[in-house]
Amino acid sequence: MKTFKRIAAGILSTALLLGMTSCAAAKQTEAANASAFTTVESGKLIMATNAFFPPYEYYEGEKIVGIDAEIAAAVANKLGLELVIEDVEFDSIIAGVQGGKYDIGCAGMTITEDRLKSVNFSTPYATGIQSIIVTADSEIKDIDTLLDGSFKVGVQSGTTGDIYMSDTPENGGVGEDRIERYSKGNDAVIALTAGKIDAVVIDNEPAKSFVAANEGLKILETPYTVEDYAMAINKDNVALKDAINQALKELTDDGTIPGIINKYIPAEG
Ligand code: ARG
Repeated sequence: MKTFKRIAAGILSTALLLGMTSCAAAKQTEAANASAFTTVESGKLIMATNAFFPPYEYYEGEKIVGIDAEIAAAVANKLGLELVIEDVEFDSIIAGVQGGKYDIGCAGMTITEDRLKSVNFSTPYATGIQSIIVTADSEIKDIDTLLDGSFKVGVQSGTTGDIYMSDTPENGGVGEDRIERYSKGNDAVIALTAGKIDAVVIDNEPAKSFVAANEGLKILETPYTVEDYAMAINKDNVALKDAINQALKELTDDGTIPGIINKYIPAEG
């Protein structure tokens, strides 16, 4: 705590100096000044994601867009930082944040007990649901049929869908033997369409967009679990977590975050 305060004081004076010289600083608010933080590269907020997860992150031409990309850009702006997005394998994100390679992991990432052992999480900014995708004519009618049978389940490697489904049947999974792992969610969906697997367990919003893009698939009515999405941050960088939380709060209160989510997931009704 002592060291933190010392570093904080040093950076705060730099921030004040910058504040006087840069006009971008005018946009900064409490979030940037509340507590001083460090980032992997000065002036930048390096975000790791896996950009095949619409509507949270996906490519539009060369550019990565989506809910996470826009929320992270708004947070970076509040903190007076330039957002840099790196598209990496999903199952390398936590280790990269923990190892000091990235400032944040922002990838529709669910807060889990296990991940909390390695990283801190910001306050949640969205909710996700694990859904089950099957072929339109599938005999799998609900989660129980899926768990009981000998069906093969496709998941994106390292995701909560993978973690839950590869667990033993006593713990609500189907067990390792029935799991097929893919580096991208959409690859699992393609395998499902090709008849290589019987179901895909993945977050609901990407599920909807994959089902819309591929004929002959449907999402089962019974969702598997409900989860909170948040940004993963290095445990040693509590000041960055505090600043990000402050920014998230301001961006929620002023309607920016609800607006971004609503733009990509129009409220039903
Ligand atoms: N919510 C799930 C998890 O945290 C899946 C996230 C996958 N994200 C991605 N960008 N591919 O494990």
